[in-house]
Amino acid sequence: MANVVITGTQWGDEGKGKIVDMLAPGIAAVVRFQGGNNAGHTVIVGGKKYILKLIPSGILHEGKICLIGNGVVVDPAALCEEMDAVRAQGVPVTPERLKLSRKAHLIMPYHKLLDKAREASKAEAKIGTTGRGIGPCYEDKVARIGVRACDLADLPLLRRKVEAALIEKNALFSGLYGLAPMTAASVMESIALVAARLAPHLADVSSELAAVEAAGGSIMFEGAQGVHLDIDHGTYPCVTSSNTVAGNASAGCGIAPSRLTRIIGIVKAYTTRVGSGPFPTELFDYTGKYLQEKGAEFGTVTGRKRRCGWIDMVVVRESVRLCGVTEIALTKLDVLSGLKEIKICTAYEYRGGRIYYPPQAELGMGDASPVYESMPGWNENIEKVSSWEALPEAARNYILRLEELSGMRVGLISVGPDREQTIVR
Ligand code: GDP
Ligand code: IMO
Ligand code: MG
Repeated sequence: MANVVITGTQWGDEGKGKIVDMLAPGIAAVVRFQGGNNAGHTVIVGGKKYILKLIPSGILHEGKICLIGNGVVVDPAALCEEMDAVRAQGVPVTPERLKLSRKAHLIMPYHKLLDKAREASKAEAKIGTTGRGIGPCYEDKVARIGVRACDLADLPLLRRKVEAALIEKNALFSGLYGLAPMTAASVMESIALVAARLAPHLADVSSELAAVEAAGGSIMFEGAQGVHLDIDHGTYPCVTSSNTVAGNASAGCGIAPSRLTRIIGIVKAYTTRVGSGPFPTELFDYTGKYLQEKGAEFGTVTGRKRRCGWIDMVVVRESVRLCGVTEIALTKLDVLSGLKEIKICTAYEYRGGRIYYPPQAELGMGDASPVYESMPGWNENIEKVSSWEALPEAARNYILRLEELSGMRVGLISVGPDREQTIVR
């Protein structure tokens, strides 16, 4: 199998984790390249549920190497907790299997406090972040004052960095947010607990990937979030703080762009969004509630109800273009069973005209009203369907229409959360 990038084409939670897990047998290594534990990927294998946030979803397959690339922001305590949780479910997490880039930036306790304090201080225009310190950690990376995983092997250096960072952070905490200042000693106490545990996992991820390829193995690049949460290409400012587009798989783990061969865009059969921000096809009626309940649309990380609506092909088409998607994996098709009519957004009415791409003005998408076409739904339960031919005709027609509108083939169809509930077309 060629190297493959898994990328979310909407606002996250498309079912990337499930598809990574399902494709893992054909690859040698799975690497995360951006985001952090704002991501939550649920994978169900034989009825057993695993929740992965930082650890690549390939960990559930014996013999696969899982790597966390330089582009990821890592909360060291959260990573240790996740390793324990996965281990407790019987999955071995050894330094040979899980490798953390020395260049990855670490989320410090003051990043989490700042993330939450900022959100709490906003009367309006809250982004609805996950509160995991993602944005503040990336800020420090770009400001060149970040703490990196390699610093776990040099605690005196790490402490000096923390002390320097706290000068500014404490001015904000006490001067602006009315919070108690944080001490370097308290930060170091929490770090000391995890540094020794993570040290054996530190690696040169770029060279590890080169070695995997040299041995004839292929690599899967596991994206987090979705293209419309991308810091540059998403619905700014209601976005996350990293580039989620497929191209960042290259910079985010240290591999040449020419090595990104197959780009699978994960498309949920309808649309969801957690947190604030424009969402043209959002439904506030019975159908929205139906999708939310039947799709069990609750955030994995924060437990918030996900906002739900019809599929938005303006959004998907833009992602196909931005990422150079080579095929689509369509997920949660089973959730649409039972709806009489299914709508597809094909364009927007926007400020007096019709447009076929997302508007670029700040939050311009908030002024976009969806132009819909309607298709007949189907009643059959499709959770056990295992072939294209066995799908109801209306479901096949829905998929064929999505292919026309995206210009992309739907090669995988997911009809349930379990690894087995996938149709390979
Ligand atoms: P990710 O963040 O993109 O990996 O997606 P999440 O795991 O956060 O959310 C997708 C949810 O839908 C998870 O609870 C999955 O178990 C579930 N899921 C994935 N594929 C399907 C599917 O085809 N049908 C149904 N009913 N659930 C699915
Ligand atoms: P996965 O990988 C859905 C959203 C948050 C918020 C915005 C910014 O599971 O698809 P952040 O904490 O990143 O600064 O929050 O981005 N968000 C996600 N929404 N799925 C995710 O990840 C998300 N990660 C962040 O809800 O609106
Ligand atoms: Mg998720």
